[in-house]
Amino acid sequence: MTRHFLEISDLSVDELHKVLNLALQAPQRILAGKGVALLFEKPSARTRHSSEMAVVQLGGHPVTVSAAEVDLDRRETAEDVARTFAQYHEVIGARVFDHKVLLRMAAALDEANFEVPIVNLLSDVAHPCQAVADVLTLQEAFGADLTGKTVTYVGDANNVTKSLALALVAMGVEVRIAAPVGYQFDATVLAEIAAYAVEAGVGGSVVQSNDVSTLADGTDAFYTDVWTSMGQEAEAEQRRHDLADYSVSEALLERAPGAVVLHCLPAHRGEEIEASVLESAQSLVWRQVFHRRTAMIGILQFVLGEVGGK
Ligand code: CP
Ligand code: NVA
Repeated sequence: MTRHFLEISDLSVDELHKVLNLALQAPQRILAGKGVALLFEKPSARTRHSSEMAVVQLGGHPVTVSAAEVDLDRRETAEDVARTFAQYHEVIGARVFDHKVLLRMAAALDEANFEVPIVNLLSDVAHPCQAVADVLTLQEAFGADLTGKTVTYVGDANNVTKSLALALVAMGVEVRIAAPVGYQFDATVLAEIAAYAVEAGVGGSVVQSNDVSTLADGTDAFYTDVWTSMGQEAEAEQRRHDLADYSVSEALLERAPGAVVLHCLPAHRGEEIEASVLESAQSLVWRQVFHRRTAMIGILQFVLGEVGGK
C-alpha cells in the first residue's frame, strides 16, 4: 500500500529510524527521468528549496506550483488535481491550509490505485518534514542517541510543535511544552503523542504547562516557532498579547546555561525569540535549515522505496 507521509505517526518508530538513516546516506538517483509535484497554498522559503533540491539530488525533476495556479477546489477539486499530478509524478508534496485537503488527496489516489505518495509540506496541524530535520540537527549536536535529553518548546503549541513532539518522544526525549492556557495541546493531541512514546518504548515523554520558567530549568534544548502561523494573521495582535511571556530570551536561557536553541524559521525577532539568542553560538537554526534537504532526501527515498518505483 502506498505510504503517505502526512504526520510523523504515519510511520512506525522503526520506519522513522529508517527515514533518518536514509537521510544520512549518499542520495541514490532513484528519480532519474522522473518528476515530483510540489504544490503550495502558502508561502515558503525553506520547504520549497529543500524539496526541489532533494528531488534534483535524487536525479529527478521538481515541478512547483502555487495553489492559485491550479485554482485548487475552484477550477477543479483537490482530488482531481492529485489524480492529474499522479499521471506525471512519482510523489506529490503539498503545503495546505487545511490538513483535510491532504487526506482527500491521499484517499483519491488510494481509491484509484494510483501508487503515488502524498508528502505533507506543512498543514494547519502538522509539519513532519521539519521534524525529521530537527531530529537530525539534534543528533548532530548531541549524538545519535537522544534518550534522556530534554527539549523545551516555548510559545504556541502548533503544527510544528506536534510533529516535533512526536518525533522527539520516539527518540526517547522528554518533551516539555511551555504555552499559556488556550495555546496548549488538547487532550487528544497529547494522548496521540504519549501513545507514540509508548510505541517507541525508549522513555520519551511529553508534559505541558504555562509555567515556562520551571519547564526551562536544566533543559538541553529550547525550541520555538512564530506566535502567529500562516492563516492566523487576523489573530496576530491578540496572540502577541497572550504569548508575550513565552519568548526564548537571554533571561530564559539563564535557567539552562549551555542549552542549544532551535527555531524552524521564519523568525520574528523580539517576539518568540530575542535577536541575540537567534544569532548566538547556541543557536542551531542554520543546521536545521541545512537538514531540511537532508531530511527530504530521506523521506523521498523512504516513500519511493515503499512504492518500489514506477
Ligand atoms: N520552516 C519552514 O517550513 O520554512 P518555510 O515556511 O520557509 O518553508
Ligand atoms: N507554524 C508556522 C510554521 C512555518 C514554517 C506556520 O504554520 O506558519
